[in-house]
Amino acid sequence: MAIREIRVVGDEILRKKARRVDKIDDRIKTILDDMIETMHKSEGVGLAAPQVGILRKLVVIDLGDGVIELINPEIVEQEGEAIDQEGCLSVPGVTGKVLRPARVKVKAVDRNNKPLEIEGTDLLARALCHEIDHLHGILFIDKIITEEGEQS
Ligand code: CO
Repeated sequence: MAIREIRVVGDEILRKKARRVDKIDDRIKTILDDMIETMHKSEGVGLAAPQVGILRKLVVIDLGDGVIELINPEIVEQEGEAIDQEGCLSVPGVTGKVLRPARVKVKAVDRNNKPLEIEGTDLLARALCHEIDHLHGILFIDKIITEEGEQS
């Protein structure tokens, strides 16, 4: 496992669309392992592959109760609205309020190519939407309602 460099806003790769993963080989598994290590080291709650310079549909999330790995995640249901604070490892020093669905259902596969379905509310719904946005070249600052500005 290795720590990967996190790309920050201004880097064009963050604005590109990630491609589907067709074959889950050792390379993909290594990327997932590295993403998890990089997320933990950076004290983030989620990371998408474009943030480490890889345009593949890979997401990791850890809200403190275990790592969730998602390959080719897709939001298949969403409901309600919720506004809350967000930040992003690729946008250092900025937080702001973003409107997200209150509940989402996501379909994906795990590293064993087993289909999985994950339903999230509150922070998990927010994290799923935020990370899946990264796969489409969208950053939370595009959706900010009120910016909180620089954090010290
Ligand atoms: Co982010």
